[in-house]
Amino acid sequence: MPRQDKGGQGEDWREQNRAMWDATLPGHLKSPVYDVEAFRAGALSLQKHEVEDLGDVRGRSLVHLQCHFGLDTLSWARLGAQVTGLDFSGAAMAAARALAAETGLEARFVTADVYDAPSALGETYDIVYTGVGALPWLPDMDRWARVVRDLLKPGGELYLFEFHPVEWMLDEAGDGTRLRYSYFTPPEGFREGGAVTYAGGHESESDASSVQWNHPLGEVVTALIHAGLTIMELRELDRNILESWESMVKTEDGLYAMPPGKPSLPFMYVLRAKC
Ligand SMILES: C[S@@+](CC[C@H](N)C(=O)[O-])C[C@H]1O[C@@H](n2cnc3c(N)ncnc32)[C@H](O)[C@@H]1O
Repeated sequence: MPRQDKGGQGEDWREQNRAMWDATLPGHLKSPVYDVEAFRAGALSLQKHEVEDLGDVRGRSLVHLQCHFGLDTLSWARLGAQVTGLDFSGAAMAAARALAAETGLEARFVTADVYDAPSALGETYDIVYTGVGALPWLPDMDRWARVVRDLLKPGGELYLFEFHPVEWMLDEAGDGTRLRYSYFTPPEGFREGGAVTYAGGHESESDASSVQWNHPLGEVVTALIHAGLTIMELRELDRNILESWESMVKTEDGLYAMPPGKPSLPFMYVLRAKC
């Protein structure tokens, strides 16, 4: 089926995905993967390398695209950034505002589609931060890259920390060394994916369908270059934030790697680009 509109208008993917994310939220608020209790007690949900990479964010303006219920956004606020989070799930934005109020952290949370972010937010930022399961929900990388550009101040930076498209191809069963899914996505997206389960099961079948796109690294990089950004760094990681297979071993930075004797694989990547 040809994609009628790369931006996705006139297609059902947006409503389907939003319903799935709204329904997933209550489980995620209780999930040990997110560990809201630790955050309430003062912990950061960010990875060590993210904090080290971006350095001192005090006083810098940061927008977090697809921020879910704002845990990472509020972690940047805890480090002193002036933060804005955006997500198309109104339920997630309400939960994020409640968490900000409860923890006394200042933040603005806006309910909007990523593709409408520049008009919905009406301002530009020093840092656009995004990732960890964000890009697979978007059909069009060219349009996303233009949104990122339009949100950045001159000299501002995109910090993207995302699952590697190769990680997507691996069979959930077994030990993570078997390929199951395609690297390239059909135009209509992958529709057999169902609900996300990385942070707990899904209770209702009716809202469990979703549409996703695996975006090859070349597609992401090329979209950003075409939008006028300068790529500063593309770092592939042999570690995963999730313990996706039982045989994985925990590393000193708290991430998970393949065990000795198994081939290493690119599980995640960091991409930094400047406007
Ligand atoms: C896996 S979360 C990623 C957020 C964050 N990295 C995390 O792990 O909490 C994906 C988020 O993308 C949001 N999302 C998906 N498609 C979107 C769109 N078109 N516009 C805005 N938000 C979207 C969902 O509501 C969900 O909160």
